[in-house]
Amino acid sequence: MHPLHPLPLLLALLLSPLLPSSSTTAAAAAAAATSSSSPPAIYTPPAGSGYVYHGCFNETTGLANTTGARALAGGTSLVRPGNMTVALCLDFCRTGAGDSRGGSSGRFAFAGLEYARECWCAQSLSSLAAKLPDSACDLPCEGNTTEACGGNLKLTVYMASAAAAARVAWAASLVAVGAVSLILL
Ligand SMILES: *[C@@H]1O[C@H](CO)[C@@H](O)[C@H](O)[C@H]1NC(C)=O
Ligand SMILES: *[C@@H]1O[C@H](CO)[C@@H](O)[C@H](O)[C@H]1NC(C)=O
Ligand SMILES: *[C@@H]1O[C@H](CO)[C@@H](O)[C@H](O)[C@H]1NC(C)=O
Ligand SMILES: *[C@@H]1O[C@H](CO)[C@@H](O)[C@H](O)[C@H]1NC(C)=O
Repeated sequence: MHPLHPLPLLLALLLSPLLPSSSTTAAAAAAAATSSSSPPAIYTPPAGSGYVYHGCFNETTGLANTTGARALAGGTSLVRPGNMTVALCLDFCRTGAGDSRGGSSGRFAFAGLEYARECWCAQSLSSLAAKLPDSACDLPCEGNTTEACGGNLKLTVYMASAAAAARVAWAASLVAVGAVSLILL
């Protein structure tokens, strides 16, 4: 047996911090993205946008039993490096652009931003997508770094607002009140 030569070992030790590893580079990219300014804030859509903030959710692609299915699957998506904002994504999902059901046939029930530049539209959110703290969606949108655009395999999710459903429920309650007042008369 030859004794271990110390020089290659020393070189390896010196060089090891320089070798890239996917986890450290991803962490460094996230740190660089957030350290330049304050952490991105959750964008609150204006009343007329048709969407309300729903939460930060985990992507499902890595779960053993999803066979790679996304948390927001079966809809459409848009990737805009350098330009993505929450408003851009909500517009895209609201008009149903690219929707196989026929273009402007209606808004998607869910809109999610991921990885600073991706927009995902779908009619449902996977029940396997875990809800995370808001702070887990820590990547700034590439089109406006003050806004949160999800994270690495995390989604800033917006849900179609219940305005239309609320109006229907309100009308139903009026009918109920009418029926009650008829009984009282
Ligand atoms: C998020 O999903 C990944 C798989 O993609 C999983 O390893 C991780 O445990 C999940 N985290 C939570 C909090 O559910
Ligand atoms: C898939 O796995 C998740 C945990 O990773 C579990 O909560 C869920 O019940 C499983 N779903 C099915 C259909 O097996
Ligand atoms: C981003 O937006 C700018 C200005 O609107 C435009 O000139 C540019 O082409 C866009 N980039 C991409 C990748 O869409
Ligand atoms: C960026 O987003 C913030 C918060 O949504 C907004 O107030 C601001 O006007 C946006 N900036 C630009 C350049 O669009």
